[in-house]
Amino acid sequence: MERYGGLVARGYDLLSGEPLYGVGRRLAVTALGLRPGERVLDIGCGTGLNLPLLADAVGPDGAVVGLDRSGAMLAAARTKMSGRPSVHLVEGDAADPATVVTAAENGSFDAVICTYTLSLMPDVKAAWDAIGDVLRPGARVAVVDMARPTGRWAWASPVARLACRLGGADIDAHPWETVERDLTSVRSWSRFGGHVQVRVGVRR
Ligand SMILES: C[S@@+](CC[C@H](N)C(=O)[O-])C[C@H]1O[C@@H](n2cnc3c(N)ncnc32)[C@H](O)[C@@H]1O
Repeated sequence: MERYGGLVARGYDLLSGEPLYGVGRRLAVTALGLRPGERVLDIGCGTGLNLPLLADAVGPDGAVVGLDRSGAMLAAARTKMSGRPSVHLVEGDAADPATVVTAAENGSFDAVICTYTLSLMPDVKAAWDAIGDVLRPGARVAVVDMARPTGRWAWASPVARLACRLGGADIDAHPWETVERDLTSVRSWSRFGGHVQVRVGVRR
């Protein structure tokens, strides 16, 4: 059964901890340094919390493609982004190369962002390989995901693990480690005792 079905999609924006997790998405979008006219891919875009930020950054001459396997999450994103013709939403599996090529439609991407999505995927390498095929050389890449909080945030670890489990994420997956190997000029940030991890770099 789809974990991100109708009920979850309807409540997602309220219940997903945006005061915490929004910090990572805003950091990543800023660090991508998107320019007007660029094409950016949002992997596992969900209800589209990144999409307004991305669409504003690339402007009306750019393109934002949101890819997600949940039709219900995409429906929420579609509502959020109605009247923004630069945003295109595609339903499918990001680990399926044919789906990702379809999402690219007419050209490769200047940038890709994956926020709180790769840790849900059983085979991060397969997804990253599929995504890599539609990035232009030198494309910018942002990964935002979760790890166990430590230090003065360690008390929150049981809550963080439970939240990840309920969301279908593996808190110990550390998917940025797979992606980083193919990047140069990597910049990294961590917030809330390392619970929110952000990596932004340039694809080799
Ligand atoms: C925790 S939500 C994150 C949504 C959004 N990126 C955000 O920052 O709010 C994870 C999303 O990833 C999507 N997802 C998980 N695995 C996927 C896959 N293999 N292909 C495409 N989307 C996937 C889910 O449907 C869900 O919408």
